[in-house]
Amino acid sequence: MTVISPSQSDSFHSGTRKPPLAPGSHVLTGHLGPLLWDPLKFLRSCSNVAPVVRMKVAGRSIYLVCDADLVREMLVNKDGAFDKGGPVYEAGRSVAPNSLVVCPAHVHREQRTLMQPAFSPRSISAAESVMADEGEHASQSWQAGQVLDVLAEAGRMTHQVVARTLMPSVTDAIDVDYLLGVVKELTRLLALQVVVPKPVRRIVPSLDRRFAVAVAGTRRAAHQILQASRDSDTPEQGLLGVLMQGDGTGGARLTEEELCDQIITLFTAGTETTAITLAWAMYVLSVRPDLERRLHAELDSLPPGPVSFKNHLGDLPFTCNFISETLRCYPSNWLLSRSPDESTVLGSYLFPAGSSIMFSPYQIHRNPQYYSDPLTFDPDRWDGRPPTVSRRAYIPFGVGARGCIGDRFAVSEIVNLLSSITRRWSLRPAHGFRIRSKRPNLFAAPYGLHLQVEGRRQQP
Ligand code: HEM
Repeated sequence: MTVISPSQSDSFHSGTRKPPLAPGSHVLTGHLGPLLWDPLKFLRSCSNVAPVVRMKVAGRSIYLVCDADLVREMLVNKDGAFDKGGPVYEAGRSVAPNSLVVCPAHVHREQRTLMQPAFSPRSISAAESVMADEGEHASQSWQAGQVLDVLAEAGRMTHQVVARTLMPSVTDAIDVDYLLGVVKELTRLLALQVVVPKPVRRIVPSLDRRFAVAVAGTRRAAHQILQASRDSDTPEQGLLGVLMQGDGTGGARLTEEELCDQIITLFTAGTETTAITLAWAMYVLSVRPDLERRLHAELDSLPPGPVSFKNHLGDLPFTCNFISETLRCYPSNWLLSRSPDESTVLGSYLFPAGSSIMFSPYQIHRNPQYYSDPLTFDPDRWDGRPPTVSRRAYIPFGVGARGCIGDRFAVSEIVNLLSSITRRWSLRPAHGFRIRSKRPNLFAAPYGLHLQVEGRRQQP
């Protein structure tokens, strides 16, 4: 296969097409303006222009794959060729180079095999009582009339769940609020590393310095967790215990640095995404009492205690559809990237080696070609009536070998947290607060969402 250097990034071979320029380009600044001011609107405007469009950013071409089938082809059949790459993953590698999320394709299979047992149905069942307990603990602490900073509350719950399921033997020895702060700051600075171009960061070196401090602080915290776990009198039973045991055959094991990388991975990939989805779900319930009533009716019919992914989800069709629709309308990972090591053909396009290729679950989920009335929140579109959904165009958890390893864990966690919350409370929009979601960060979240807690009226 011909290798084309990034400097030749605009040359295309015969037999392949050059993607058209995305709409809204400015002669001097390319697509920087729309990407900075209203990226979600910009992404929507690219739908159905062409299967792939080209964006101009800082003089470079960045490709956006808009067609759902081409995205699948890239992620499922050509995942080895289109490796993890692009600014987010490059910045991620400077935090945790061996992390399952950012590791390159050639080491991925081995890493995934080592991590998989931590997400087995047995491990998830074991985590469910922690999930229910955390939901119970949080909702018990709320008072009627209280206004919740929803992202902060949801983040606290999901961090506690990951901390207690990852390392139950040392949870008491770890300051989870401190960890939450470290990870939050890291994610914020990681987003700045991605958004602020290198030349600007050279002018403002404090950005890179603060990022380096956050990386060092996060790695120190991960090492402390590992050490506390080793020093503990009881052998680690949680996900970390599973990871420390290796592949169970006495063969491959994760090294010390790899274990630290995976601890960081689970705290970053496994907490904010779930918290954001829970927050969006709480928002929808607060403005749609019709959906809230249906969710209450279904969750109220369950016996008290943890909701089991294995035994109960079949009895919760509306709840499952509600969560699917939340993830369709509000996928936290709104923009993801890949980069081929060698020039590679996808559809009728040839992508040069080293090029930046983006795809957006948000854009695909809101394309009218795949979903009828895509801007309407309609959980019933998932109840099997064709043709309102297109499962091939549903990628909140990605797809293929690099698809989310924690998808079942996340759904089980959201159901358990929602179930605990809705047993006690209704949520209503709090006066004077507005959601700021136009300009997403690393994740697309309902920033600024505040909800008021109301005691539930007795069902007639
Ligand atoms: C609603 C919650 C979640 C969402 C929306 C979500 C979304 C995603 C997406 C879109 C990817 C693929 C990224 C890509 O292809 O570039 C991914 C990968 C990943 N997620 Fe999640 N995730 C969630 C929860 C979790 C949880 C709870 C965990 C762990 C506790 C987790 C751990 C991971 C890991 C380790 C990967 C990398 C998998 C690999 O490359 O093999 N995620 N997630």
